[in-house]
Amino acid sequence: MYFVAAPNIDTIVSLAKRRGFVFPSSEVYGGLGSAWDYGPLGVELCNNVKQSWWRWLVYERDDIEGIDSSIILNRLVWKYSGHEATFNDSLIDCRKCKGRFRADKITDNKCPSCGASDWTEARPFNTMLQTKLGAVADDDPTALAYLRPETAQGIFINFLNVQTAMRRKLPFGIAQVGKSFRNEVTPGNFILRTREFEQMEMEYFVSPSAEHSKLVDYWVEQYLEWFGSLGITRENLYLYEVPGEELAHYSKRTVDIMYRYFPEREKPWEELMGIAWRTDFDLSTHSKNRLDAEGKRVNPDSTEDLSYFDEPTKQRFYPHVIEPAAGVNRTVLAVMMDAYSERTTDKGETRVILKLSPQLAPIKAAILPLAKNKPEIVGMAKAIKRSLQPLLRAVYDDTGGIGKLYARQDEIGTPFCITVDHQSLEDEAVTVRDRDTWEQERIKVTDLAEHLQKRLKPYTTPSLPEPI
Ligand code: GAP
Repeated sequence: MYFVAAPNIDTIVSLAKRRGFVFPSSEVYGGLGSAWDYGPLGVELCNNVKQSWWRWLVYERDDIEGIDSSIILNRLVWKYSGHEATFNDSLIDCRKCKGRFRADKITDNKCPSCGASDWTEARPFNTMLQTKLGAVADDDPTALAYLRPETAQGIFINFLNVQTAMRRKLPFGIAQVGKSFRNEVTPGNFILRTREFEQMEMEYFVSPSAEHSKLVDYWVEQYLEWFGSLGITRENLYLYEVPGEELAHYSKRTVDIMYRYFPEREKPWEELMGIAWRTDFDLSTHSKNRLDAEGKRVNPDSTEDLSYFDEPTKQRFYPHVIEPAAGVNRTVLAVMMDAYSERTTDKGETRVILKLSPQLAPIKAAILPLAKNKPEIVGMAKAIKRSLQPLLRAVYDDTGGIGKLYARQDEIGTPFCITVDHQSLEDEAVTVRDRDTWEQERIKVTDLAEHLQKRLKPYTTPSLPEPI
């Protein structure tokens, strides 16, 4: 039994373009493969997802700080993080049609383009996107820099700055949201895999003697709860314990939270986020004092030691890290797929309703005049819009008949439509229509803001257990 309301990603692609959520990028020049631009409603939805995440981790908890590091870091960061050596996809070419593919995506040995089975040897392809810094010659190797492939490294190299400036003791976390870039060999499936995307990452620093595996489970549970608060159905999420041979070079355990992005396929799951125990790899690899088994410095380039002195035990060590790493774009896609629903009207017409959680809805209230040729009604509707705007995102719309206006707001997930009619001029009251039930109630204009705010109350995590 499938719980995804959208039958496939294509349904969301079409809705997203039609209603101003997401447009194919650079369309006037024929597009740019797998690049997307977020429109007026898409930018609001993304912002609401990011704000919900930030509020939940940085504001509601007391053990997490936020930062915003540079996208372009010293190239040595990527040398010592292991990305220069290992951030590779394994590539193969079809000798017949010259198509190029990721080796791990070819499951039946057949070329997806021409069906042949004549392949070149697999070879590594580093997926970090390169750029050059400064006014330098094209072939100057010292100018090479990378656009970050993960936000995490900007957090690790700031560990000591944040810990000292904010006087933090373990355990504590640092959160960051921002763009990351990967020269993906096979991007695709709308905003699921792109070369430019946005991550929400949090590095949670703990003692080497903490119960790391339990902490991974703890953060998995926390994120399941947060996704639930965004309206994502639990049945559409699946936990994947990443097997040893698939773990990244820094990880001792990773659990991926998968979403049912492909309800129409036999294999419907794709990664929404991962929760990894990164050990002490990152802080120690960027530290000047770490020695290898032969007593040689692991990192002769670093000028800092990112170790931590634990006052109660009088011990100095490199903290271990539990990292929940989520994608903004994949969360947005999961949220839209889960919110999609269709309803048949009494006249037999199919209506699309995007049942977005109110905290995520791009527009919270649409103020609609029943007669746009009546200046008193229009004036009252516009005044209501202006009075609500400081409290919540509201729009005024008079570009169609009331049925059409309701349908348009349902399709973009607006929780409430407020109609100003002839009677409103008499009784100073308006009709508030609920997106999901289509039920209407009459509310006094003086009570309207409080009424809406009560019903839109942002979700707060009901339980915040102490971390282990
Ligand atoms: N710091 C660890 C890390 O970056 P990851 O599993 O490679 O881990 C974390 O990435 C999340 O970032 C993924 O679960 C996904 O949501 C998002 N992500 C990664 N690559 C992406 C891409 N090419 N397009 C869109 N989202 C991507």
